[in-house]
Amino acid sequence: MPTLVSHPDEVRVLSRRFGQGAAEIDKYVELDGYKAVQKAIEQGPEWVINEMKASGLRGRGGAGFPTGLKWSFVPKTSEKPKYVLVNGDESEPGTCKDHVIFLHDPHAVIEGTMIAGLAIGAKMGFIYLRGEYRYLLKIVEKAVADAYAKGFLGKNIFGKEGVDFDIVTQTGAGAYEVGEESALMESLEGKRGVPRIKPPFPAVVGLYGGPTVINNAETIASAPHILLMGGADYAKIGSERNGGTRLFGISGHVERPGVYELPMGYNLKKAIYEVAGGVKGGRKLKAVVPGGSSCPVLLPDEIDVGLDFDQMGKAGTMLGSGGIVVLDETVSIVEFALRTIKFYQHESCGWCIPCREGTDWLKKTLTRFYNGGGNLKDINNIQYLAENMMGRTFCPLGDAAAMPTLGFIKKFRPEFEEYLKGARTEKTFITTEELI
Ligand code: NAI
Repeated sequence: MPTLVSHPDEVRVLSRRFGQGAAEIDKYVELDGYKAVQKAIEQGPEWVINEMKASGLRGRGGAGFPTGLKWSFVPKTSEKPKYVLVNGDESEPGTCKDHVIFLHDPHAVIEGTMIAGLAIGAKMGFIYLRGEYRYLLKIVEKAVADAYAKGFLGKNIFGKEGVDFDIVTQTGAGAYEVGEESALMESLEGKRGVPRIKPPFPAVVGLYGGPTVINNAETIASAPHILLMGGADYAKIGSERNGGTRLFGISGHVERPGVYELPMGYNLKKAIYEVAGGVKGGRKLKAVVPGGSSCPVLLPDEIDVGLDFDQMGKAGTMLGSGGIVVLDETVSIVEFALRTIKFYQHESCGWCIPCREGTDWLKKTLTRFYNGGGNLKDINNIQYLAENMMGRTFCPLGDAAAMPTLGFIKKFRPEFEEYLKGARTEKTFITTEELI
């Protein structure tokens, strides 16, 4: 479980209530809780959407889609009910930021859900937690029940005639795939969690066929802060076209791992060496996975880059879900590549062939390679396989498996070649049984 950490460079917006007992509703209210939603009710949907647009907030799940724009895509009128759906299925390896929000500030998620509902004209929201976060469900369910008890949820909320909003919580069953928004909706509807074809996007045809705003938990929890401080002021904290702050989970071989709230655009090298205290034990840095396991790896000379969606894109990788994983010189990239692909192969829902077969062949080839049965042709085959998965699957899981694989092969080809000569590390983390 991530510990509460702090560093002077942090800008505390989302995390300002962490560690203060704000999971209790009275404390949350004392710390300005539920003020933003009341302001939203007074000012109306157009104001809310304009503030969200002005904030420059971009989807914190990983794709970085502008939140205000997404909300504005929802049709004003609809025959079917509209919904707000909070994606708390945080499953990307290396990512643990939504977890701390649910743990320390669940009411921020509830209040954000209500704000999104008000903005799009929905009267119902769902908070979907990943199956493995079931222990957080109690915290979230208590927070929802407390909000009902105070009259903040239900009918005529805050005593305002005709303003209704309900929230239902739900957990998954431990499938990474349902973090993909359309698979999540299938799962919530009680079906097998496989992706839908897009378009139509959920904003138009979503849950139960109704227009649905689906946002990551961190995105939703940012909304109350934005409305209280004003969209323009929030935008100023971050970098160009990347408003505000973000929770970054820094893990792996660093001195002070944890979840830190940094302004968008903060330098990745500084985040590792200053905020997280540098590489553990003063060892040499080998590589950095910058935003969760699906992002192509960066080499030590590539990390002098700003942590925002655009700068990371220019650096040939992605900001992703904000999970920075630091690998020191002791790590075998062959083994790390295998571990990564093993995850995606296990989590592929099997719905489309390039992902189902591609991840399986990648795992088989890498397993044989890792176990000493590889040859030079395998390296090309791994690259060929990964290249042919890219862009050929219904959802991004296929890409998520292919992108890091390509990064490992392209940036560490000499290490793969050396491995064939018996340079395999003695420091093995995976037993042969585990690999098969
Ligand atoms: P996407 O770019 O397809 O869509 C992003 C969002 O914008 C979606 O909500 C989509 O519905 C909406 N959108 C895009 N175009 C639209 C349009 N024209 N009209 C209306 N809405 C539109 O990306 P996707 O597939 O949602 O997410 C991929 C990202 O997820 C990856 O970049 C990866 O970093 C991240 N990810 C995060 C995980 C986590 O645990 N947080 C796990 C795995 C991946």
